[in-house]
Amino acid sequence: MKVRLAGSMETALITLYGKALDAGMTPSLLHDTMAAQAVERIDYDFGRIGMTPRLAPNVAARSLHFDGWAREFLARHEQATVVHLGAGLDTRVWRVDPGPGVRWYDVDYPEVVAVRRQLYPERENYQLIGCSATAPEWLAQVPADRPTLVLGEGLLMYLEPAQGHELLRRITDRFPSGVFAGDTHNRLAVRMVNRNLARTFGAPLLRWAIEDPHELERANPALRLTDAVSALSSPSLPRATRILATLTRPVRAVRDLGMYLRLEFGPQG
Ligand SMILES: C[S@@+](CC[C@H](N)C(=O)[O-])C[C@H]1O[C@@H](n2cnc3c(N)ncnc32)[C@H](O)[C@@H]1O
Repeated sequence: MKVRLAGSMETALITLYGKALDAGMTPSLLHDTMAAQAVERIDYDFGRIGMTPRLAPNVAARSLHFDGWAREFLARHEQATVVHLGAGLDTRVWRVDPGPGVRWYDVDYPEVVAVRRQLYPERENYQLIGCSATAPEWLAQVPADRPTLVLGEGLLMYLEPAQGHELLRRITDRFPSGVFAGDTHNRLAVRMVNRNLARTFGAPLLRWAIEDPHELERANPALRLTDAVSALSSPSLPRATRILATLTRPVRAVRDLGMYLRLEFGPQG
């Protein structure tokens, strides 16, 4: 099938391809065979997006990290709601395979959701919402009666800061309790990634750099930052990356290029 996605939507193909490459490696980190099958079905020049076998484990390690946080949340809340904002072509709902008490929503632009519908099967308690994460409409489609995990993996950096803060405010206003988990880029990372994106897609797409993870709870007192983990500290990363990370740890701008954040809201989190 032919896939044509524009702007930030096209980056869903970068992470999908990274996970597909990882699935073909021994050992694989994420074992995302659905991503590999999806890539085989998609007619797209994956060679142009700069994702290589050397970089693929970084993509897989990030998804593995958020899979872990999703599993932890669902272990604490058998009856729960999960929303993945900017889900792209990610197959987390199949990787995590939640129990019958969990409702799961994947949200992305309508064009991306249309591609997902062609690629992946339907499943019980699983719904796609074709809507910008920054528009209020998706919230009304998600019931607010259970502890809620909202994932924003590879999303916040694409938003204007004001849009991002507004999104987090809408989440904490709508859902009585839960967790927001997402990753952020600092200024150096935004500059570096934008240089690559401009080369590949003709435009820098990232708009929000976060230097201090506490920025999010300062802007929204309903949020409590419980975890801020450097992406470079992930034990799943290849040895060479981990050695480089150890050597550069004293340099804060490098250590904190990418952060995985977890923030609780409401009485139980
Ligand atoms: C780098 S991809 C990440 C996809 C997926 N989360 C993953 O980790 O594989 C970024 C995704 O964010 C989506 N995105 C960017 N801005 C968005 C917005 N305002 N609303 C919904 N999705 C958005 C893009 O369409 C794209 O699918």
